[in-house]
Amino acid sequence: MIFELNEEQLAVKEAAREFAQKDLKPGVIDRDREMKYPTEQVKAMGELGFMGMMVSPEYGGGGMDSISYALAIEEISKVDSSCSVIMSVNNSLVCWGLETFGTEEQKQKYLTKVATGEWIGAFCLSEPEAGSDATSQRTTAIDMGDHYILNGTKNWITNGGTSKMHLVIAQSDIDKGHKGINAFIVEADWEGVSIGAKEDKLGIRASDTHTIMYTDVKVPKENRIGEDGFGFKFAMKVLTGGRIGIAAQALGIAAGAYELSVAYAQEREAFGKPISKHQAIAFKLADMATEIEAARLLVYRSAWLKDQHMDYNAASSMAKVFASEVAMKHTVEAVQIHGGYGFVKEYHVERLMRDAKITQIYEGTSEIQRIVISREILKNNKLYIPIPINSVVG
Ligand code: CAA
Repeated sequence: MIFELNEEQLAVKEAAREFAQKDLKPGVIDRDREMKYPTEQVKAMGELGFMGMMVSPEYGGGGMDSISYALAIEEISKVDSSCSVIMSVNNSLVCWGLETFGTEEQKQKYLTKVATGEWIGAFCLSEPEAGSDATSQRTTAIDMGDHYILNGTKNWITNGGTSKMHLVIAQSDIDKGHKGINAFIVEADWEGVSIGAKEDKLGIRASDTHTIMYTDVKVPKENRIGEDGFGFKFAMKVLTGGRIGIAAQALGIAAGAYELSVAYAQEREAFGKPISKHQAIAFKLADMATEIEAARLLVYRSAWLKDQHMDYNAASSMAKVFASEVAMKHTVEAVQIHGGYGFVKEYHVERLMRDAKITQIYEGTSEIQRIVISREILKNNKLYIPIPINSVVG
C-alpha cells in the first residue's frame, strides 16, 4: 500500500487550507454567534470550484476524485463547519445524486447550476416523524398523470433557506412501503413551497437549517428521479456517499482542535515549562494524534473505495461513526488543554466542540451507522471489509 497523496490532491488540500485560514477564519466567531449565513464565503467557495468538486467538467464541475473532496472538506472544517456542511450537502447529496441518477435534461437544467454554486441545493428526507426511520415518509406525492401533487413537511433541512432547488423524498404509494417512495426535484420558488424560521442550533450555527412545508405543490413528471419507486434507494445511495463528506467534516473538526491544542500547549507555560512538556498534556496530544490518524485512514479509504467503484457502504459508515466519535471526544480534550481559555469563544475550541456534536447525528446517527455496519459484516460473515492487496491510497 502507498499512503501518499498525488499532486492534484495535495494542491486541492493546500488551496482549501489557504482559503479556510485566510478567508473563513476572520469572522467565523461572529458568524457563529450571530447565526449569520456565510453568503460571501459560499460565493467564494463556488468560484474556487468547491461546490461541485466531483461533477464532471461538462456540467460545470471540477472532475475531481472523492479523496480530493474529502481533503477540501477536512481543511475547511478545521475552521468553519457551517461552510463545510453547506458544501457537503451540495456536493455529495445534491450534485452526486443528480449526476449519477438524473436524466440528461435534469443535469442540463439543474446540475449545471448547483455544480458551479450559482444555485445551492438541499436534500429533503427527514420529517418530524421520520428521522432515522427513513422509510416512514409522511410526505405524499400523488401521481396525477403528467405531474405529481406534493404535500408534507420536511425538518432540519440544511441549506433550507438559501437553496433554489430541493431533492424531495415522498411517498407515492403507501401500500408498496419503501418501494412506493419517489425522489423529486422541486424548485424553491414554486407555488406551495414555504420555508420556516432558521433553527437556533448548538453548533454549525451559521448554516441555515429550516423546516420546509409543501402544500399542493405541482411537480412535473420529468422532475422525478429514476423509475417510479426508486426514491428510497436513491436516498440510501446518496447518503452512503454523503457520509464520507460528514466523516471528512468530523475529521477536520478533530484535526482543527488538535492543531490549536498543539500550538497552545507549546506556548502556554505552567510550573516553569510549556504545558506540552507535562506528561498529562503530552499524553492527551498523543492520543489525539493517534485517533485522528486512524479516522483519517478510514475517511480516505472510504473515498478511495468509492472512486474505485467498489462497495463502500460499510466503509463510509465506519468512517463516519469513528471520525465523529473522535471529533466529539477530542474537541472536549482540546477545551480541557486550553483550560479557562478553552471555555471562551476567542480560542475557537469551544465552537469546534459544539460543532462536533452534529456529526454524530446528521446523515445517519452513530446508531444508524452501527446498524449499517453490523448488517454488512453479518451478511458477508466477515469481521472486516477486504480491499485488494495492492490497493493504493492516494
Ligand atoms: N444502498 C442501496 N440500497 C439500499 C441501501 C444502500 N446503502 N440501504 C438500504 N437499501 C435498500 C435495501 O436493499 C432495501 O431494498 P430491497 O427491499 O429492494 O431489498 C431497501 O433499501 C430498504 O432497506 P432496509 O430494509 O434496510 O430499510 P430499513 O427500514 O431497515 O432502514 C436504514 C435502513 C439504513 C436504517 C435507513 O433507514 C437509514 O439510513 N436511516 C437513516 C436516515 C438518514 O441518514 N437520515 C439523514 C437525513 S439527511 C441529512 O441529514 C442531510 C443534511 O441536511 C445534513
